[in-house]
Amino acid sequence: MFPTQTHAPVFVFAPMEGVTDAPMRQLITQIAHWDWCVTEFIRINDLVPPDKVFLRKVPELLTGGKTLSGTPVSVQLLGGNATNLALSAKAAVDLGALAIDLNFGCPAPTVNRHDGGATLLKYPDRLFEIVLTVRRAVPDHIPVSAKLRLGWEDPSDCIRNAERVWSAGASWITLHARTRMAGYSPPVFWDWIGKVAASVKVPVVANGDIWSLDDFKTCAQVTGCQAFMFGRGALADPFLVDKARALLAGKGPVPITPPQWRTWFLGLDQVTAEHPRKSEVLASRCKQWGNFANRVRKNDWFDRIKKQTTFESVLSALGE
Ligand SMILES: Cc1cc2nc3c(=O)[nH]c(=O)nc-3n(C[C@H](O)[C@H](O)[C@H](O)COP(=O)(O)O)c2cc1C
Repeated sequence: MFPTQTHAPVFVFAPMEGVTDAPMRQLITQIAHWDWCVTEFIRINDLVPPDKVFLRKVPELLTGGKTLSGTPVSVQLLGGNATNLALSAKAAVDLGALAIDLNFGCPAPTVNRHDGGATLLKYPDRLFEIVLTVRRAVPDHIPVSAKLRLGWEDPSDCIRNAERVWSAGASWITLHARTRMAGYSPPVFWDWIGKVAASVKVPVVANGDIWSLDDFKTCAQVTGCQAFMFGRGALADPFLVDKARALLAGKGPVPITPPQWRTWFLGLDQVTAEHPRKSEVLASRCKQWGNFANRVRKNDWFDRIKKQTTFESVLSALGE
């Protein structure tokens, strides 16, 4: 599920409440290739949300727990009540969630006043209890991850907290390299991520202020991590993730992905007038277009579409 065996780089699109709702997750994961994305947080208070709340916030549950472009979605829960979080996690998994992420990083004062988000960073035993209870409530093959900040006020708390979360059974730990008190103000302290990665035996996902390929290079170097979460930087440059992936793999310029071509081909469909042979005409346009792309760089997908004679079969040859 995660790169412990392969050491392949893993890229996660960050949850951003009020920004990365399902349509945005769909679009961003269609533009470039992500290994995971995470929902905005779902707040768990005294009650377990009814199914309709999960389905409204995570419509991907109706499509195998993945965005339409095939990226698995982790359902993020926020709260301080271990039992209710566990029941909610189980409910989400019963509806088709592929992974659960626990939010221990939200800095919003109203959230923190109600025992949620970064406030839990002050209580390592509660972090342990929550992760353990949720871990036990869902099947073993469902990852349960935790998203932390460095601490409430003291960045060095990240070591103690990460160790507690790891020993409770977290599948991986995402670390936003700032304290709660730092909010979103620069700088980030990536060096703490490296120290955490050295002290736990699960993958650590490095997060915070990766805005450019240079930031990414420095972050990868400083942390030694193989997994990264991009948030605002991915909105600023939706191709950043593919550039970073290519860089880590030692590859050259980033190829345009089949989902991206698919979007462009669908755009062509929209601007082409209705016509009795529209499907065939579009198929040959797409093949012509793909042929030009193939001259610059050999594309596997072109071999698949070049035999197709209808627009529908071109689209399906590009993948879902
Ligand atoms: C508008 C906004 C909303 C956010 N909402 C969430 C959230 O729902 N859950 C969460 O774990 N983190 C949330 N975050 C934090 C991001 O996931 C990420 O950790 C943070 O932005 C640092 O990464 P970045 O510098 O790549 O954006 C939010 C951040 C922003 C800017």
